[in-house]
Amino acid sequence: MKREAAGGRNLTWHHHDVGRSDREGLLGHRGATVWLTGLSGSGKSTVADILACVLHDRGVLTAVLDGDNIRHGLNSDLGFSPKDRKENIRRIAEVAKLFTSFGVLNILAFISPYREDRDFARSIQGEGDFMEVYVEVPLEVAEDRDPKGLYRKARSGEIPSFTGISAPYEEPTAPELVLRTAEHTAEECALEVIALLERKGIIAGG
Ligand code: ADX
Repeated sequence: MKREAAGGRNLTWHHHDVGRSDREGLLGHRGATVWLTGLSGSGKSTVADILACVLHDRGVLTAVLDGDNIRHGLNSDLGFSPKDRKENIRRIAEVAKLFTSFGVLNILAFISPYREDRDFARSIQGEGDFMEVYVEVPLEVAEDRDPKGLYRKARSGEIPSFTGISAPYEEPTAPELVLRTAEHTAEECALEVIALLERKGIIAGG
């Protein structure tokens, strides 16, 4: 059956002796994926970094993956067309799924503007392993922050298909959490994510 699932390519799934629950037992927490989605300049990477620091201090094994860094390596062949963004998200979702199976707490920071792509990322993870966190900010605020000067370039036409300006951002309809970075500090937002992880029993209460 597994052979058929692999498209008749003569591949057989091998079940390794040390499994996910063994690794989670070793680590003392569950593997899971926190998927931060939002406009460029919404604060995804800032929240991700604080989150990783707090979790690390609490003995949680984390992996932070963000669009700017991953596009330097694994996804350096991809641009910003809808098709490339879909492939960007597909690859990173598969990486997160693998890391989750190793017991890692993944913190992902990708614009991931298309609902369908985020839903795909959710669908390949186990139930309860995936938390969509919408880092919400009014476009005017993100544009005003413009930490990398990209909105200015997008407005002048120097960068085509820029999310929020000349390419769409589809807001999540049922995220596990919404963080409003125009109203709260990044530290407060990170603590909201920690509380969510505790409520879900992914990490022990602090
Ligand atoms: S995604 O849409 O495919 O999820 P991703 O998060 O990997 O995007 O990369 C976004 C980063 O790429 C932005 O933070 C920005 O620095 C840079 N970037 C360059 N061109 C664009 C563009 N056209 N639209 C959005 N981000 C861009």
